[in-house]
Amino acid sequence: MTEKTFYISTPIYYPSNKLHIGHAYCTTIADTIARYKRLTGYDVFFLTGSDEHGQKIQRSAEEKGVSPQAYVDEIVDSFQKLWVSLNISNDDFIRTTEERHHKLVQHIFQKIYDKGDIYKSTYKGLYCTPCETFWLDRQLVDNKCPDCKRPVELVEEESYFFKLSKYQDRLLKHIEDNPDFIVPASRRNEMINFIKSGLEDLCISRTTFDWGIKVPIDHKHVIYVWFDALSNYITAPGYLDNKENFAKYWPADIHLVGKEIVRFHAIIWPIILMALDVELPKQIYGHGWLVIEGDKMSKSKGNVIDPVLLIEEFGADSIRYFLLREITLGQDGNFSRDALINRINSDLANDLGNLLHRSLSMIAKFNNGIIEKSGVTDEIDKSLLQLAESTIANYESFMDKNELNSAIKEVWSLISRANKYIDETMPWALAKNPENKERLNTVLYNLAETLRIVAVLIYPFMPSTSPKIWNQIGLSEDDFNKITFEDVKTFGKIPQNTKVNSPEQIFPRILVQEEPEETKEQPNTQKEEVVEENLITIDDFAKVDLRVVKVLEAKKVEKADKLLLLKVDLGTEQREIISGIAKHYEPDELIGKNVVMVVNLKPAKIRGIVSRGMVLAASNEDTLSLIEPLKELPPGSKVK
Ligand code: MSP
Repeated sequence: MTEKTFYISTPIYYPSNKLHIGHAYCTTIADTIARYKRLTGYDVFFLTGSDEHGQKIQRSAEEKGVSPQAYVDEIVDSFQKLWVSLNISNDDFIRTTEERHHKLVQHIFQKIYDKGDIYKSTYKGLYCTPCETFWLDRQLVDNKCPDCKRPVELVEEESYFFKLSKYQDRLLKHIEDNPDFIVPASRRNEMINFIKSGLEDLCISRTTFDWGIKVPIDHKHVIYVWFDALSNYITAPGYLDNKENFAKYWPADIHLVGKEIVRFHAIIWPIILMALDVELPKQIYGHGWLVIEGDKMSKSKGNVIDPVLLIEEFGADSIRYFLLREITLGQDGNFSRDALINRINSDLANDLGNLLHRSLSMIAKFNNGIIEKSGVTDEIDKSLLQLAESTIANYESFMDKNELNSAIKEVWSLISRANKYIDETMPWALAKNPENKERLNTVLYNLAETLRIVAVLIYPFMPSTSPKIWNQIGLSEDDFNKITFEDVKTFGKIPQNTKVNSPEQIFPRILVQEEPEETKEQPNTQKEEVVEENLITIDDFAKVDLRVVKVLEAKKVEKADKLLLLKVDLGTEQREIISGIAKHYEPDELIGKNVVMVVNLKPAKIRGIVSRGMVLAASNEDTLSLIEPLKELPPGSKVK
């Protein structure tokens, strides 16, 4: 059987500055695709690196008073550290200043020159140094670079030219014959129009600075930085010095790039390959930009987000999850700290964190930490199992189309279903009667098994959370290292009598800082209003909307020993409320209880959490008791 291989690359980033969250976004996408492919049995080659030559870098180094090499060394070191802290699993990191790359670039330049596709002439035209791009007069917008809107420079020098025009028709045909060569379709159409407007031969050498790879036949010239940079994609797999490896991985499956550099990848790069008689990559994927409140990130605007600080504050997996969940690949997406914290608190701490914590706590409490198998199933189990099955199928089909945010959304629908499954099956009630032991075991097993499946499915997205869940379920590290996508396709793989580890919060809630002084107290110890006349009318009373609600979840609020965070069911919706009852109730004993709540109370932010309602309690000096209806009533029933 031939081995399935998969080659994915990111752009090689310029070490002119430290990387920002936009670069981290691109590399995270590539990493997630690479990890998914490995999980599905591919032998993956995942490449990233740094694009170290060119006028821009030389100028930045001069401004700092250091050599270009010393300048890039320091910044590239920060790239590599960032990728380690973001859990990026690249198989190689290419630097264009490496000898292997110099040799390759000179080799291919010579080869194309010998073939007659490179010739010497004089270049007179415009150049944008920040973008390292040549422009024609007619392409400028307000006399500025159409990409970065900065001033361009007039360049006049002897140069070598590459015959792009010769390959124009062949390239157009290739793009038209291969609809998946450039994606998304909007980028493909742009490229088709661009090519149809006519390709000019490309200036591929410069003489007015020297930080680059020398033209092999003429050392006065350095090779144009894009010709140099694009070739990295064949240097790394070994076009020149490891033919076997090159044959194994080339053609690349996906060159993932930002939308602004699709042009270089979809025009110059394929033509270089055509001139070399090398097969073209299968796909150029132009992803969208991460913007800050709708604005492009830039140093001058002062809105650049440093991924290192974010990772330190929130952890790599939270950042990865946010980027992949929030943004549709191919479209622009907004980054905001509030949206990030929201996702962490609601999806990670609340949905996933609680599912794990509740399930394992119940296994620990009701079955001494042992996951036991049992054959009993009923309709509720079946619906959970069916959803697990359809989640896996949908996830697979989305992942295969690189629709990462749709795939991860599917996983969250399974997580929500499993949380609801707990509310429906009420293991705490089953545990009260030994006759229900079989049923209890089935429920607990199904929860653990759902968590195992979730752990595998989130692995490409959150590679350090996934083994933590695996380990808390009590599964072996050895098995984790061997997991494949096939493992999720069978429900029921957790071995009989697996002992769970003690549950730990994997995603603590992020406490939002700005907390108004007056709302710091819990709502049900609100100051009594002093009223002279103690009587109210029936209309006054009717203003208070009291309802029976069911407690779905309860847990302590960190660093607040009086407070519990409750999630309650109102019949029509679920809400979170903070209640100052932690000294009187253990969280577990409240789960499943019906209590009375004021539902039309103004929300209050307490310890960074918005509390929407207040449960009623009666108290004297040392006892506090929640008010429970004497008969079982559905959540939402009105108290009057
Ligand atoms: N060195 C060239 C690429 C050569 S590839 C042969 C280059 N480098 S860069 O440092 O400017 O990186 C550009 C890439 O970084 C974009 O194409 C994109 O993948 C990523 N991003 C940079 N800013 C970004 C956002 N604001 N949002 C998303 N991605 C961003 O161009």
